[in-house]
Amino acid sequence: MHARTPKHFVLEERLERYADFIEPAPQDYAGRWAEACFPVGSTALEKGAAQPRRFREVRLDLGCGKGAFTVESARCEPDVLFLGMDGEPLCMAYAGGIAAKSGLENVVFLAWDGHRVTEAFAPGELSRIYLNFPTPFPRKRQARLRLTDATYLMDYRRILAPSGALRLKTDSRPLYLFTLEELAAAGYEVLWTSEDARADFPNEPTSGYEERLAANGAKVFALEAAPGPEPPHFSPTPQRGLVEYLPQDLEKLDYVPLGMEATVWNMRNREAKLWAKGHRDEKRANNSEKCAALHEQGGDPVGSLSRELTP
Ligand SMILES: C[S@@+](CC[C@H](N)C(=O)[O-])C[C@H]1O[C@@H](n2cnc3c(N)ncnc32)[C@H](O)[C@@H]1O
Repeated sequence: MHARTPKHFVLEERLERYADFIEPAPQDYAGRWAEACFPVGSTALEKGAAQPRRFREVRLDLGCGKGAFTVESARCEPDVLFLGMDGEPLCMAYAGGIAAKSGLENVVFLAWDGHRVTEAFAPGELSRIYLNFPTPFPRKRQARLRLTDATYLMDYRRILAPSGALRLKTDSRPLYLFTLEELAAAGYEVLWTSEDARADFPNEPTSGYEERLAANGAKVFALEAAPGPEPPHFSPTPQRGLVEYLPQDLEKLDYVPLGMEATVWNMRNREAKLWAKGHRDEKRANNSEKCAALHEQGGDPVGSLSRELTP
């Protein structure tokens, strides 16, 4: 899932060029994002002198990739600060470029590991966290890397405002089902779900992956969840491979989710081999039965008839 770089693309040069839009030390702003990023001298957002010089809300696009969704969302709501966070420097370089070209003053990118998100924000600072097409990490041993693992959902509870919510979008039904279980374990209430978000919310800004995967025939699963009462005795859920959430009958799978192509290919291959082996064994058993019957009748099983029976 590594982005290819065009010729003459020098990462360090790009990061430096768009440094105004990329924050490498977000922990320095924890608790004061809404005021610290408010544009100096902005008249567009300050209609009356009594109005506080801060953004109305702060929202986080966690694992924002190249930032298309973050920037489009910022364009739609100029009085909300949109922060895109990603651990991949290359994505930050692209995202910084898009932000710079947009001319918007309410979007900033944070080069930071989402697993340490609580260091970048004060309790209750975010009104919404978007998780658009989070990396699925399908293998069991990678399960703790998933951004919707219950342990991280517990972290998000702390930085979300009392009326705050989390929104997930994914092409992966297995990841969607896994996330529903993790949300329950972390005491969230699911406010709504959609198994075709593009049809249900046609006017919402789309992310880079959403565009790409929808072009490949992906349906988008989505949900919104808000923290409910905190679980009194939280303990991390067992590590699970996403393969556990695939349908038993792979014939029913008309779309293979991102990151599970190799797994599904191997499973289909294994099934095909088992089917072929079963078919061969059945044929052999039939042949032996026919030979035995012939032998009993005094025929010659090694001769012409056995040749006819050979697969
Ligand atoms: C499949 S891409 C989706 C990007 C974007 N949200 C979109 O929909 O186009 C997943 C992104 O999550 C980022 N990511 C994965 N784990 C992360 C983590 N622990 N912290 C920050 N970003 C992470 C990856 O670098 C990648 O850019």
